[in-house]
Parts: sequence; C-alpha cells; structure tokens
Amino acid sequence: MITGAYPLSRPRRNRFDGFTRRLVAETTLTVDNLIWPTFVCDGSKIRTQVGSMPGVERVSVDLLEDHLAEAVSLGIPAVAIFPITPPAIRDARGSEATNPDNLMCRATREIKRLYPDLGVIGDVALDPYTDHGHDGLIENDYVVNDASVQLLARQAVNQAAAGVDIIAPSDMMDGRIGAIRVALDEAGYENTRIMSYAAKYASAFYGPFRDALGSGGLLKGDKKTYQMDPANTDEALREVAQDLQEGADMVMVKPGMPYLDIIRRVRDSFAVPTFAYQVSGEYAMLMAAIQNGWLDRDRAILESLLAFRRAGCNGVLSYFAVDAARLLSRSA
Ligand code: PBG
Repeated sequence: MITGAYPLSRPRRNRFDGFTRRLVAETTLTVDNLIWPTFVCDGSKIRTQVGSMPGVERVSVDLLEDHLAEAVSLGIPAVAIFPITPPAIRDARGSEATNPDNLMCRATREIKRLYPDLGVIGDVALDPYTDHGHDGLIENDYVVNDASVQLLARQAVNQAAAGVDIIAPSDMMDGRIGAIRVALDEAGYENTRIMSYAAKYASAFYGPFRDALGSGGLLKGDKKTYQMDPANTDEALREVAQDLQEGADMVMVKPGMPYLDIIRRVRDSFAVPTFAYQVSGEYAMLMAAIQNGWLDRDRAILESLLAFRRAGCNGVLSYFAVDAARLLSRSA
C-alpha cells in the first residue's frame, strides 16, 4: 500500500465537504440490504409490545396488511417471520411445526396473497413449538441430532408448500442443510432457497427474542451442545463450508455486532452471499441507550447497520429495518 507523507498528503482533504466524502465512500447501505424480522401471533386485531424490545410488536395475521404496508412501500426486499405459539399447542416433539395450517403457514399465505413480491423467510427450528424450548428433540436430556434433522426437513417442506421463499434453518443440527435440500427437491421445491444460520453462537443476546416468543421461561438448560462457542472462529469457517457443500444458497452469522470478525472471515474465505442477524439483544441494547438520550437514534441505527456492510455482508436482518429504510429514503 502506498500513501503519501504529510504535509504533501493530507487525508482530511477528502473529508473537507459532503460531496467528496460521498465520492470516496467505500461502502453503502441501501434498502436492498435490509431484512425485517416480524413476530406473528394468533387471534384477531392483536398488537402487543415486546417488553424488552421497545417499538417491536407481535401482530395477528389479520393486521399484517397494515403492519407490512410501510416496509413494502419503502422497498424492503424480505421479511423473516417468527410465530408465537401458545404453551397449549407446544409439545415435546414440536408437532405443530409440521401442521400445514400452523401460524407460520397461515401468515405466509396471507403475506403472499397481499404482497406477492415481498420475500418471505421462514425460520426452521423446533423451539417455537416445543414445550422445552429447544430447537430439536430431547432424548436422555440431550438434544439429539439425526432424529431432529428429519423433523426439520419436514418442517421446511411444510413451509415451502405454504409459499415460503427462503428456508432459514436456525437450529444448528449437523447435516440439516443437506437433508432439507434433498427433501425440498423431492417435494418439487428446487427453487426454494436456503439461507443457513451457518455460524450461530450460543449467545446471551437472544434473551429478548425468547421473551417475544414466550420460549424463554420454558427453556430448560442452555443451547451450548448445538450452538457454537463464542470463543471460536476457525470452527465458523468449517460450519459455513459444510453448509455450502450441502447446498446452502446464502449463509448467515449470528449475532451480528459482537461477531463482525467472523463475518469478515466468512466473506474473505468463501465469497458467497453473506448475511448477519442484528439480534434482539443488540436491538435492546441500542434502544435502551437511545431511550435514555445517551445515543443519537438515527445516527446510531444507520452506523450499526453500515458496520455489517463494511464487514462484508450483503444484507442484515434487523428489527430496525423499517426505521433504517425510512431514514435512507429521506436522505436520498
Ligand atoms: C431460534 C431462534 C433464535 C433466534 C432466531 N431463531 C433464538 C435462539 O436460538 O434461542 C434469535 C433472534 C434474536 O435474538 O433476535 N431457533
């Protein structure tokens, strides 16, 4: 790398005014980079606030038209749907996951009817449906792999049949991408894409999400036998490599901001479509500071998202997606 020496070279010159700052900007954030995670619940005319995520709501299917209208008009490419399953419908095997008429499927059909061009991303994992809050089946106090994978593949086909465009397995079982790919293809869904939560860490930052889903109180133990150890980085590359070999079209790193180093390594190593999830705890953390007046809301939101682009992401799942899209459309 060649740089001039001061005083002939003055890096501040390019920062002198807005137009040169724009000309030399190395990364951009646009609405195309945003995916909006959305919580859906049963019932009618229901909108409830998630206590630990100020500004985030759970909405019933009949309100989705209104709830998604602004996201659609701003041009957000896709939403990621998360269903709230009441305890009465949960069981040890997460049976509701494969019910063709479950909330996830009903919400998807409704979104596709209302907004056919809006991409729908479906989370595949059993935790919204199990009474123990784990992402797979439990035998002898252990979340078993291969039997869980079989169910996850059926869950994925069930979602694809309802119209989900992108299957996003967030369960971290071994071999699930390959099993899901084969099951989708056999069922005739060869164009249904897979965005794998390839490097998903056993993180403290999912707390508010489990609060939103109502699975936090149910969860027995932790998810450390299947989600990754926050200490590891080479292992993330092996996880991504496996998922790509098994047919993943896009990969994800999760959480986001504490794992920007992983995103950069994944991008540099594989050069495939890479995403990150700015998770519930990151949202809660930023919102808490914003609500205290400790951070400037608009600038903090955009800077936190630009960081993902700089680290090498194509896009970000963010609870701020609509706020950010609004800010970006204003500044355009
Ligand atoms: C569950 C799932 C989780 C999230 C997305 N899918 C939580 C978990 O693994 O316990 C977290 C998202 C967030 O925190 O915003 N498979």
